[in-house]
Amino acid sequence: MPQRFSVATNFVNVTVRGRARHYRTVSFDGPHNAVRLIEQRLLPHQFKIVATKNFRETADAIRLMVVRGAGAIGATAAYGLAQGARAFRGRDPEKFSRHVETVFRTIQSARPTAVDPVNAMNAVHAAMRTGGTVEEKQALGLAAAEEFANEDFRHCQEIGRHGAGLIRSGMRILTHCNAGWLAFVDVGSATAPLYAAQAAGKKFHVFCDETRPRSQGAMLTAWELAQQKIPHHVIADNAAGHLMQRGEIDLVLVGSDRVLGRTGEVANKIGTYAVAVLAARHGIPFYAAIPLSTIDWNLKSGLRIPIEERHEDEVLGAWGVASIFRSGLRTSNPATHLCVRVANPSSAARNPAFDVTPPELITGIITPTGIFKPRDLWRHRSELGRTEGGHGQ
Ligand code: MRU
Repeated sequence: MPQRFSVATNFVNVTVRGRARHYRTVSFDGPHNAVRLIEQRLLPHQFKIVATKNFRETADAIRLMVVRGAGAIGATAAYGLAQGARAFRGRDPEKFSRHVETVFRTIQSARPTAVDPVNAMNAVHAAMRTGGTVEEKQALGLAAAEEFANEDFRHCQEIGRHGAGLIRSGMRILTHCNAGWLAFVDVGSATAPLYAAQAAGKKFHVFCDETRPRSQGAMLTAWELAQQKIPHHVIADNAAGHLMQRGEIDLVLVGSDRVLGRTGEVANKIGTYAVAVLAARHGIPFYAAIPLSTIDWNLKSGLRIPIEERHEDEVLGAWGVASIFRSGLRTSNPATHLCVRVANPSSAARNPAFDVTPPELITGIITPTGIFKPRDLWRHRSELGRTEGGHGQ
């Protein structure tokens, strides 16, 4: 079944049970006031769209990682704020404003590290403030959420346009976690240059870090690349250094959950810092790709970025479906999702979900307006969309 992606066409093509269709990772169902999401916890084994019916369900979907990835949770938060605002019944602007504040705080607390949800909700909030009546504010909020989602898509396309030049035919590219179209509304950040280079006819190979503990590389990036027909291998996280030492990696491309505009520090999935150290040791270019909603112009130090600590079970165990492996390992029911305990039963675990990479380890930040040295972001802040009192917490 053909799986063509073109940067010029709108939505990513997913083939499920032999049928190719276009999807957005996140979208809004106006008549039902529901946020529609690809249920990412079931991928790559099952493709399912779910709908959250109110803002609390939307916040839960972010917290439980039904939807994940900074851009995707940004768009989900924007829609969730609009959804919560639209559910308000009454005409009193002050009561409406207090209700919206509760919705904002509920969604914001779902996951703390990515700045995109806060930036996205700030944009929706600002649009609502320009309305006179509650009804106007509700309509303006949804329009602003749709605009955030559309801008996320446009930004990813622009990242692809700028980043494709970094990729030459024959390259072997390492990526970490999932910064693909599943992590955004569409296209992806770290994957955008790959898809644009593919559309330009370049041939290259991708290594997906497995990305323990939740295995977004093995489960999501690998699935996405398979959908896009990009040759790839999944590798254990521990294998990256070995491949670099043997000259088998030419470029590293990752995404980010928060880039500090003042310092150039990059927060991303746990393990990114280790990959950056290895890349620097081996002289391999290391790039982070981001839409403008990922920039935090306020924080002055990476040490102040709130790092999410998730449940220890993610480290102590693993999950997937029962399968028949090529090695001959087999289990009985291939359709069942399984959780298995891996670690010693009496041991506890730590599970920081993100880390921070310092600017000296980063070759460049690929943005929708061009590629910048991390420490040059502040100098270019007006072209990168910083407004006084705007983006950031
Ligand atoms: O915990 P996750 O799966 O939400 O983490 C996602 C990542 O770390 C991505 O690399 C990051 O969001 C950048 S791409 C949007």
